[in-house]
Amino acid sequence: FGRRAHFAQASYTSLPRQLTQLGWDAVDGILLDLGLSSMQLDTPERGFSFQHDAPLDMRFSPQNPVTAASLVNGLDENELADLLYRYGEEADGRRIARAIVRARPLQTTLQLAAAIEAILPRRGRVHPATQTFQALRIAVNEELASVADVLPKAAAALRSGARLAVISFHSLEDRIVKEFFREQGRDLVNPPYTPLYAEERKAVLKEISRKPIIPSEAEIAENPRARSAKLRVAEKL
Ligand SMILES: C[S@@+](CC[C@H](N)C(=O)[O-])C[C@H]1O[C@@H](n2cnc3c(N)ncnc32)[C@H](O)[C@@H]1O
Repeated sequence: FGRRAHFAQASYTSLPRQLTQLGWDAVDGILLDLGLSSMQLDTPERGFSFQHDAPLDMRFSPQNPVTAASLVNGLDENELADLLYRYGEEADGRRIARAIVRARPLQTTLQLAAAIEAILPRRGRVHPATQTFQALRIAVNEELASVADVLPKAAAALRSGARLAVISFHSLEDRIVKEFFREQGRDLVNPPYTPLYAEERKAVLKEISRKPIIPSEAEIAENPRARSAKLRVAEKL
């Protein structure tokens, strides 16, 4: 890529600082590819997968002081149940939280998966620990808060006509992106005598299509991990 590329190892929430450092006041496009990478999932010692035994880590950044083990062993039962419900949409969150607390300390991925499997038998092909692992990963990396944080920063960094494209991998992320695009697509204008908005403004973004772009059957056959991906695109007005 030569001088056309600049790499920075940093949270995308630091986007404004990165742009200031480059001396760029606006950009022509932003692509956010959320979640975790196949490489991370396939590196057992990162602790994202229960296919292999590894320490319960799950951090995207080694600078992050919070690991999955610190949450699993440090939160109380209610906090764990709440985390599993909020970030894993796990209907059995309460039972799993109780099983985790009973089995503690849990240090490895397989210990955690086994503690869950002991109280929830496998249903079909999906391992009963799947949503717990997702929930822990989201919590460790504060993924939803980061998405909510970066979207307005990204929108502000675009020049007029530039596009913001976001690929998400589960409904919790996608909901944040969808709601942000909808909200930024509306004019906020107070009706006479009814101050609904502290600040009036015109719409900031226009969605390219209301429906997300999803992978074709052929793409999913070639790359099964793409199956839950949703791409939403909006243009800066
Ligand atoms: C879906 S992968 C992207 C893969 C990459 N586009 C590729 O094709 O190889 C998402 C990546 O974003 C990283 N990531 C997650 N949250 C982040 C954040 N807040 N700031 C920066 N990177 C983050 C993850 O560590 C992961 O490597």
